[in-house]
Amino acid sequence: MTSKLRLGVNIDHVATVRNARGGALPDPVRAAIAAEEAGADGITAHLREDRRHISDADIEGLMAALKGPLNFEMAATPEMQAIALRHKPHAVCIVPEKREERTTEGGLEVAREENALAHFIAPLREAGSRVSIFIAADQRQIEAANRIGAEVIELHTGAYCDAHAEGRFDVRDAELRKLTDMAAFAHDLGLEVHAGHGLTYDCAPSIAALPQVIELNIGHFLIGEAIFRGLGPAISEMRRVMDVARNS
Ligand code: PXP
Repeated sequence: MTSKLRLGVNIDHVATVRNARGGALPDPVRAAIAAEEAGADGITAHLREDRRHISDADIEGLMAALKGPLNFEMAATPEMQAIALRHKPHAVCIVPEKREERTTEGGLEVAREENALAHFIAPLREAGSRVSIFIAADQRQIEAANRIGAEVIELHTGAYCDAHAEGRFDVRDAELRKLTDMAAFAHDLGLEVHAGHGLTYDCAPSIAALPQVIELNIGHFLIGEAIFRGLGPAISEMRRVMDVARNS
């Protein structure tokens, strides 16, 4: 029996569009409420150190307005830890962050930073947030995430999705094999397995079909697709695509 697959909608790029003009519109909190109404099981927002999209006020607005869970994405810095401890979101997802990158390019290097990360996440867990670690489909990183006490890992699907979109089929198939094996490996260790980055209607199905994956987090594609279909229909179609893949 395969468990239900949750859809987390990342609303960062509503804030990207807002910030392009420097005003208040479009409002990411309004997008998050619309996403919930369209069937999102949770909302993800990444408060970056440089505040290039989501702002501190957005996080406050989301905490106040959301009916469902907020997955607060952040780097492992003292500033972000203090913000997370103040808000106590349902989930905290620890990601690597570089100022010069356009998006979160790789997974977190957990194995090398094991002690520091174990100390970093302990107060977040004590405050009641579920801690998720965004990592590559790599056994070493998964074992380290388990040792530091994370409850959840999110597998980085970016390399798989890029290879899929560019028709590099050998790489695509190799990436999918890694994701398949590592989802099973992490699940056997007792970790909850999520996945995300770069997912579209075309590449989400193979990930949705992995029985151990119980949540997909999707942002950029859905916000782009909303231009053409509207946000609610874009999310409903993703829900449909995921459900078809899950149940086939
Ligand atoms: N999951 C994590 C941990 C991410 O950092 C991101 C990108 O912010 C996503 C999911 C969503 O990726 P995308 O915007 O490519 O769908």
